[in-house]
Amino acid sequence: MYSNMNKIYADNGATTKVRDEVAEAMLTVLKEDFGNPSSIHRFGRTARVHLEEARKNIASLINAKEEQIFFTSGGTESINTVIFGVSNLPEERIPKNKDRHIITTKIEHPAVKESLEYLEKKGWNVTWLNTDKEGFLDFDELRSKISPRTTLVSVIHANNEIGTIQNLKKISEICNENNVLFHTDAVQSFGKIPLDVTNLNIDFMSMSGHKIYGPKGVGAIYIKSKDKLSPMLIGGGQENKIRPGTENISGIVGFGVAAKLLKDEILPDAQKLRTLQLELMERLLRIENVMLTGPALNKVRENIPHENFLNRISGHVSICCKDIEGESLVLQADLKGIAVSSGSACSTRNTANSASIKPSYVLLACGIPGNYIKGSLRITLGKDNSKDEVLYISETIKDIAENVKKKTAVLK
Ligand SMILES: Cc1ncc(COP(=O)(O)O)c(C=O)c1O
Repeated sequence: MYSNMNKIYADNGATTKVRDEVAEAMLTVLKEDFGNPSSIHRFGRTARVHLEEARKNIASLINAKEEQIFFTSGGTESINTVIFGVSNLPEERIPKNKDRHIITTKIEHPAVKESLEYLEKKGWNVTWLNTDKEGFLDFDELRSKISPRTTLVSVIHANNEIGTIQNLKKISEICNENNVLFHTDAVQSFGKIPLDVTNLNIDFMSMSGHKIYGPKGVGAIYIKSKDKLSPMLIGGGQENKIRPGTENISGIVGFGVAAKLLKDEILPDAQKLRTLQLELMERLLRIENVMLTGPALNKVRENIPHENFLNRISGHVSICCKDIEGESLVLQADLKGIAVSSGSACSTRNTANSASIKPSYVLLACGIPGNYIKGSLRITLGKDNSKDEVLYISETIKDIAENVKKKTAVLK
């Protein structure tokens, strides 16, 4: 059964493969419809039609108005634009009583975490909310930390490392009751979880193309009302002056096509991925010294995608193995043809000493025990993964974990 298992991609949380339809649409723009959408001749007008079509596709996936969507170079830029855009509002546009206070969580992506750490150094007061061991926010804690001075709350929707989905409706209600702006980093959830901004009091939402089978280097921000932030870049009038600079039309078109294709696929994809995810979780948890991180198995079992998406993102499995380095697991899995990642892969390598890997701050915040925390592994299944692949992945990880354990026992 496993003879063809030499190239399994199970790292869809890191990035996804561009779909054929996306690549074809991008190629047409690169080769034929290459005009600058600001030009008034026919090449420019054609490019503008593509740009606006893509905007419509992104807006439609979250039920926003087209004029509320602003294209950027990706999730990181979207997040930076919101955080620094709000913090840079001119004095006369800052609502009365508001002062330099932002609330966020301890489990944000580095794009949010490090932007806010920067603001802290510049004199802002940032409150870092705890989560429980599965990564869920405590709404009462959020409520208790909001003061009349609070300007912004920024909460990640679906966590990239542990898959936890926060209840946006609840958080946005709390923000709205207290007249506080609300930003959500929806990079991992956009296109995977149905989102309707008309049902949510969200002011800003950050999105990215490459997590939804679109290209890298393109993203978008949903901005409910554009007078709530100042642009980060200064230049021409593109994107209604929120993001000046000639638009990356091929990337934007690819992003738009990816979003359009997903519109009717979110629920069937989630259903398929939920089944594979449960199979994988159950098998991995049978391995000795493996613990799950993020929302527990029973919660995932109860979380039928057609009814709600309230706890763990479909297809996302994260575990920790006792007394093993996550990077070593990733490299050994790679040798067996499986691409996965360690929860700590992208951000926490200690630059002063590249040989030592810092434990993930997300796992630390969730209280993962010290002898497990470095052995984190994240498997993120996508559209193309099959049940056979899931079986192969679980068997392979079992072999790797048991071999490492045997070797450690001999060394002892
Ligand atoms: C939750 C989250 N936020 C933000 C980003 C950054 O997005 P981009 O890679 O498009 O800059 C990522 C990418 O990994 C992410 O997972």
